[in-house]
Amino acid sequence: MLSRRSLLSASTALGAASQVAAQSPKNIVISSANGLTCCEVAMAHLERGKDTLDAVIAGVNVNELDPEDNSVGYGGLPNEEGVVELDASVMHGPTRRAGSVGSIRNIKTPSKVARLVMEETKHIMLVGDNALRFAKSYGFKEEDLLTEKSRLAWLVWKRGSSNWNGSMGKPSARLKTLFPEVDDQLLAWAEFKAMYPPTGTINCLALNGKGEMSGTTTTSGLAWKIPGRVGDSPIIGAGLFVDQDTGAAGSTGLGEENIRVCGAHTIVENMRHGMSPKDACLDTLKRIARNYNNNMTELAKFDINFYALRKDGVYAGAALWSGRRSSQGFTSPKFAVNDGGKSRLEECVFLFERK
Ligand code: GLY
Repeated sequence: MLSRRSLLSASTALGAASQVAAQSPKNIVISSANGLTCCEVAMAHLERGKDTLDAVIAGVNVNELDPEDNSVGYGGLPNEEGVVELDASVMHGPTRRAGSVGSIRNIKTPSKVARLVMEETKHIMLVGDNALRFAKSYGFKEEDLLTEKSRLAWLVWKRGSSNWNGSMGKPSARLKTLFPEVDDQLLAWAEFKAMYPPTGTINCLALNGKGEMSGTTTTSGLAWKIPGRVGDSPIIGAGLFVDQDTGAAGSTGLGEENIRVCGAHTIVENMRHGMSPKDACLDTLKRIARNYNNNMTELAKFDINFYALRKDGVYAGAALWSGRRSSQGFTSPKFAVNDGGKSRLEECVFLFERK
């Protein structure tokens, strides 16, 4: 059962929901909070009359190529063997098509490969070595995606895993000896990532003035995962869903929880049946809570966010918890919005208040 306090939190959050009531479609791009620049790039494409799928892919390419975004593309945190494996999906509303790649290595921009799967094949999803082979056949260059920063975080994590002499959460005196050239701030970051494996990801959804919609989700997935683990991002209906008649939705956070409720599809179906984007997201978060019989101790172990953009331009971002764990402590969950000009961060509504 939800506590009265939790329900109150949710209803308070509803009041503060980030929504705009648009009469007729106009250019709008929304994304997870790491997408401020992504949304600006996507909006610039929409303003030049480019297709909505061109726009969102150009947007997330910024994060895929950014070595400082450790949850996406180049610089993403690796699997337990120190190898970066990426997942991505795309959906094009006007043609009602989709494509995705899972567990692909050595390609910096998996969203572009997902698009090629959609456009050039009769399939929806390619995975692993064969996804890589497919990408190479279209001229994609193989590159090492592990940056020095991500390698450091992986080594710190490895010291805390079972076969190694280390312990996570201990002061970094030994780490200082091992990595004398690394400054304290970077070591503290690496320790945090080792202790709390992130599931970052970027989801980006776009609507243009003609009412056309597209979306993409791209990620390096759960850090330190078992090689071959595929999360929700490339699963059409979980990490991403676009229905040209209704709207679009996507997710970031722990993919396993999202897959179990087919989150993005559930949100779009909720909107189709009349729910606002905000209520559609909250209802889907409640299904995740229900999978744990609303056990707060279990639910507190992970974060998950949803993003929804309806065909009329109404949008929302929603989080399971009011506080999102970061190396700076708990911060309020946000998402990025661009409806022309500079992007801004807006508050997500949330289901439970983190104490
Ligand atoms: N949502 C990203 C993942 O779990 O892989």
